[in-house]
This record gives sequence, C-alpha cells and structure tokens, in this order.
Amino acid sequence: MVVTTTALDYDEHVHCTFASRYVRDPLPKFKMPEHSIPKEAAYQIINDELMLDGNPRLNLASFVTTWMEPECDKLIMASINKNYVDMDEYPVTTELQNRCVNMIAHLFNAPVGDDETAIGVGTVGSSEAIMLAGLAMKRKWQKKRQSEGKPYDKPNIVTGANVQVCWEKFARYFEVELKEVKLKEGYYVMDPVKAVEMVDENTICVAAILGSTLNGEFEDVKLLNELLTKKNKETGWDTPIHVDAASGGFIAPFLYPHLQWDFRLPLVKSINVSGHKYGLVYAGVGWVIWRSKEELPEELIFHINYLGSDQPTFTLNFSKGSSQIIAQYYQFIRLGLEGYKNIIQNCMANARALREEIEQTGRFNILSKEDGVPLVAFSLKDSSRYTVFDISEELRRFGWIVPAYTMPPDAEHVAVLRVVIREDFSRSLAERLAGDIEKVVMHLDAKPSRGTIKAAHMTAAVDGGARGGEGSEKRVKKSVEQTQREITTHWKRLVDGRRTGAC
Ligand SMILES: Cc1ncc(COP(=O)(O)O)c(C=O)c1O
Repeated sequence: MVVTTTALDYDEHVHCTFASRYVRDPLPKFKMPEHSIPKEAAYQIINDELMLDGNPRLNLASFVTTWMEPECDKLIMASINKNYVDMDEYPVTTELQNRCVNMIAHLFNAPVGDDETAIGVGTVGSSEAIMLAGLAMKRKWQKKRQSEGKPYDKPNIVTGANVQVCWEKFARYFEVELKEVKLKEGYYVMDPVKAVEMVDENTICVAAILGSTLNGEFEDVKLLNELLTKKNKETGWDTPIHVDAASGGFIAPFLYPHLQWDFRLPLVKSINVSGHKYGLVYAGVGWVIWRSKEELPEELIFHINYLGSDQPTFTLNFSKGSSQIIAQYYQFIRLGLEGYKNIIQNCMANARALREEIEQTGRFNILSKEDGVPLVAFSLKDSSRYTVFDISEELRRFGWIVPAYTMPPDAEHVAVLRVVIREDFSRSLAERLAGDIEKVVMHLDAKPSRGTIKAAHMTAAVDGGARGGEGSEKRVKKSVEQTQREITTHWKRLVDGRRTGAC
C-alpha cells in the first residue's frame, strides 16, 4: 500500500476526499501494514468496501433485528465501551440484565412470585443459550444416573430433523448423540408421537421448537408434554423438555396467550429465546430461563471475585458488550406488552398480505402456517423449467435477499424460498416484493429452459460432428464440458443454499 500523504505533510484539501487519493495499491489482506494512515482514509476505504455488502433492511433471510429507534441507538452508542462482565464496575447494567430475566420468566409463566428473582442469564444469542441449557440438562442427567449406579457415558437428545444448526453444534461439541425425528413431505416439524417413541433412559431431554427455522411452524409442546408424562410414568424416568423459542418466545405470549408451550407445562424445564429476533434488539443478545434453581446444577456456575465482589457467571465466554442488554431493557419498558403485541400483529398482517399475493400467482405452494412466526415459506408447484434457486438469484437483481434451501431428511426433495417479516418490513415493501417475484417468474418463463439449452448444445455439437467440419470433436468436448459446468453450478447453488439459507 502506498500512502500519498502522511500526518506531517497533511494537505487540508486532500484529507477529506475519497480514499483513492491515498491508496494506490491493493489493500493489505494478510499482513498488518508497516505505516499508519489518516483516520479519514481508513474510514473511507472501509466504508467504500462495505457498500458492496447487501442492504440489511432488504435481507429477508434473517430473523435478526435490523432497525431500532434512534433513542435506543443513542443508548447503544453510549454504552458501547462497557464490558458486561465487569459487574462490580457496572452494577446498573447487571441490574438491567436481571430485570430482563425476571420479565421474560414472567412472560413464559415461570413459577416465580411477583417480586421473586427468576433464574436465567443473558447470552450472545439463542445458540449460546442452547449450549447452556443443554449442558445443564446433561449434567443433571449424569448426576442422577451416577447416583443410581448406572452408566452415564451415552447421553442423547431427541429433536426434530428441522432443528437449527446450533443443536448439531451442541451435540458435537458436548458429546451428546442427536436423535432426530425425520420429517416428511407436508409435515415439516417434529412429530411428538415419534419423538417420545425415540426417548430412552439415556435421553437428557426432548427439544421442541416454538417457531421452526424452516417454515415458522410451532411444534405441539402440549402434546409432547402429555405423551412424555405418560412415558415417564410407565418407565420411571423423568425425561424433561427444553423449548427452543428462539423466534416464537416473543410471539406466542403476545398473539396466542392461551397456547400452552411454556413453564405452564410441568416437564418444560428451560426455554431459550433470541432477544435479537422478535425481542427487537440488534444482533448479539439471547436469553435462557430455567424453571427453578433446581434445574441449574450449582457446579456449572463459576464464581469470580477479581473484578470486585463475588460474581456468579454461567456463560461460555467472558467479556462482551453491554449495549444489547441495555437495548433489550429499553424495548421492554418502551413497548410494554401492548407495544410488542402491536408490532407482532402488524408483522403477521404483512405476512398474510404477502402470502395471499404469492398464492395468487398460482405458481407456489405455501409451506408456512397462518399461526406461527411471521414468515412466508413457499415452494414451486412446477420445478421442471427453473427452480427456487433461480428465483432467489433473480430476486437479487432487484436488491432482495431471499434464501432458497432444501428441507432436511426425509423431505430433502422439497426446496423452498423463505421471506421473514420483521418490524421494518412494511406493507408497501411486501407489495413491491410480491410484484418483483411475479416479474422474476415471468422472466424465467420466457427464458428457454435448461433442458432446451442443453439439447441445443448437444445438437450443435452433434451437427458439427456429422458435418465432420474442422474441430468437430473439440466442439462435442466443449459442449459436454459446458453441460458439466452447468450441473456443477446448479449443485453448488443447492449446497450453498442449504448451508446458508436459514439462520
Ligand atoms: C429455532 C432456532 N433456534 C436457534 C437459533 C439460533 O439463534 P441465534 O442466532 O440467536 O444464535 C435459530 C436461528 O435462527 C432458530 O431459528
């Protein structure tokens, strides 16, 4: 990198211009540069490169909040330099976290008194929350087995095949076998009957999802609780339930207060929820709540005192920012139950409007449900000419980021598009998206199908061969290579979609 000016020969007229005035060579990618550059240049260079990122507001792949009120942005910036773990130095921040835990526990009907402290912790997201809840379940099960003189080296967890990747991480990182109930076409969540059949004496818990990542559907936790209670009675086991309410935890209490999925069900011992999804905070906050302190083995809690007084911690990392916790508390007191209900109802209305427009095209099957997370998941009725991956790619031309992915086993042959409706996705954006989907479909209809293109290639090649013209063999080889390339590209897209499509 060549810097054309330094802090010493500072040129008043140049310092605020584009970074190209400073940088003549490619930017360093592997080694830290030898010299400093002016702050304006560093800002401009990075800002320019970031312009090529997608627009978060148009990223319909993500459940994660992309807009907050300016007043909350101010609070976030004001606390950006506070390390959350310094509880003794920032006692108010700790207090705000505890208030959030209490409020969420009440929202989930934990059996705690009105002014009793609930058991839970703020995390970086639902993934960390799930690791902690899973660890508590595993340790509890191990201790019980140990006290009974039984083997405790083969723990397993029962889930649906639709679980988010964090469950697979938990299983692999913490050596727990993941027993997945397979899906089938038309049924994309865990079947509670099959789940309970899979439970054995080594099952540390059954994990149910309130708001499947793939189609937003709520699993039937009440039925699971009933069936598992019966099985526990028959076998003498006491297999518990964890509810992964990453998205649904901030939807069900406001929209479906009578739906029983939470601590009202006796076997539900812990629940996670993402503050950064429908908790309406920017990325970086999640929560895990336990039914009572009996569910959280004391030996998992670390006590540190070198930052001040005794501080109990149960997290996977140590330092982290405070802003998201503060932002969560802001949303709770700013919106209240009324505000959350309004926002989620509006998201549902926009999801409904989008679903109706997509249905009206006559091209798609809708895989999401009316009740559940506000999203629209849809598959093509006819994929013979083009696929949902083609639609996803074409939509990018309009600026939309709409993921396409295949369903997990045994429904891998079903490929879907999914649009997540967040607070900042307005009705007019929904209408515009529906219009753009229609345009894309018409555009793809008008294009020759892949089969036709391939046939044309082969005909050209064979024609050339029959004419025995110059280079005919070469042309056939080229055509075959091209077809192979097309297939590889298509598969790459399929695999990429599967890997990155759902978050
Ligand atoms: C059901 C479910 N569980 C867990 C997660 C992971 O959540 P987080 O991104 O908060 O770690 C997600 C993310 O989409 C999810 O949908």
